[in-house]
Amino acid sequence: MTTLITGGTVVSATGRTQADVLVDGETIAAVLSPGSTLLGHDLAGSVDRVVDASGKYVIPGGIDAHTHMELPFGGTAASDTFETGTRAAAWGGTTTIVDFAVQRAGERVQDGLAAWHAKAAGQCAVDYSFHQIIGGVDADSLAAMDSLVDEGITSFKLFMAYPGVFYSDDAQILRAMQKSADLGLLTMMHAENGPAIDVLVEQLLAQGKTDPYYHGVARAWQMEAEATHRAIMLGNLTGAPLYVVHVSAKQAVEQLAIARDRGQNVFGETCPQYLYLSLEEHLGAPGFDGAKYVCSTPLRSRAEGHQDHMWQGLRTNDLQMVSTDHCPFCMKGQKELGVGDFSKIPNGIGSVEHRMDLMYQGVVTGEISLERWVEITSTTPARMFGMYGRKGVIAPGADADVVVYDPQGHTSIGLDKTHHMNLDHSAWEGFEIDGHVDVVLSRGSVLVDEAGYHGRPGHGQFVKRGLSQYLI
Ligand code: URP
Ligand code: ZN
Ligand code: ZN
Repeated sequence: MTTLITGGTVVSATGRTQADVLVDGETIAAVLSPGSTLLGHDLAGSVDRVVDASGKYVIPGGIDAHTHMELPFGGTAASDTFETGTRAAAWGGTTTIVDFAVQRAGERVQDGLAAWHAKAAGQCAVDYSFHQIIGGVDADSLAAMDSLVDEGITSFKLFMAYPGVFYSDDAQILRAMQKSADLGLLTMMHAENGPAIDVLVEQLLAQGKTDPYYHGVARAWQMEAEATHRAIMLGNLTGAPLYVVHVSAKQAVEQLAIARDRGQNVFGETCPQYLYLSLEEHLGAPGFDGAKYVCSTPLRSRAEGHQDHMWQGLRTNDLQMVSTDHCPFCMKGQKELGVGDFSKIPNGIGSVEHRMDLMYQGVVTGEISLERWVEITSTTPARMFGMYGRKGVIAPGADADVVVYDPQGHTSIGLDKTHHMNLDHSAWEGFEIDGHVDVVLSRGSVLVDEAGYHGRPGHGQFVKRGLSQYLI
């Protein structure tokens, strides 16, 4: 099957150009001057399918490098399966996800990874890969990390939060980071001081402060900034490359910036919720509504300026990319586990469907350039996580993961509008987007176009990743 995407503006991380994109089978065959011919023949007449992208942007498919489909967490499990979550991703122009395989204390890393392969295989609409959560750092799990690179898993996540669940103490972190430095594995860190947070949680609950709002009070910015600093210092000592996930506090970004200025291999990711939503308006919503916005790190105070600082960090490259940390829980039967006790609300927000649209709003409002939009949502994730060349770029030989995005289009987000996530509410209800995902190709197959959805479970394949380009 050959496809010609004609008349569009091809946007990359470094520029934009009027060009036609020729797709042959699963890969991009050529990026051509508009109106190019083949041996004197009109190209459009020689291909199987023509996609008219006139007046639209043609961008590499989005890469969401932080999702949790079906994650067992908080006494329940994330409500999107690999099937429903990757379908929603496709609708929103995301053609690759990187999810997290889980190993807990006392479990074998190999078993955790095999379990996640079993959940995802044959279910995904778009391509997928895994990071490895090491929730129990011990001699066995450290030894098992040796084989991760061969499995195509080149990054792992540790938690300074969630004592008794995924938590690692400093001694465990030090040992895992030594491995990371030896093997060239990227250490991903959930940087919040879990034990100190648990004290505040206990004190707040004892004072009768049980509403979702207090989730944000207990997880104060100092908890994130302190843990970020500690992780940076342990990374500095061991030489482990460090990637801090879901950064939300401006003081944490400051820690990253200081380390980067010193020349340390330290990176940071933020998420749409930390750019748009706030402690006051959302976590502090009346009644139990704030539960929709309970995630960790938490939403931050707008009065303190954290959201503006995240945009600034994206402009200055103190933050390198935007993932969703998609971890959806329904209000009914899941979030409501925490009625009367905010600490029992399962942590997570669902956004995998909306990341490309939400981040495009940064272009519309002038927070970031068009090229930076592509960079932080696709190109840098590909480079950071060892997929670049195949993913994150429109160039000959790359996978034909392509999105046609209409800047004149409009997208209304809401349960009865654009909503394909398996979730009984949307944290993004009522958001009006200037722009629209018109056509989505994944490895040359059209998943979404004006006629609707054409994807299927099992189209998405596991992507074996190489080492991060940022470590070389
Ligand atoms: O609230 C969140 N972030 N839930 C998912 C688990 C994690 O820490 O990433
Ligand atoms: Zn986390
Ligand atoms: Zn997460």
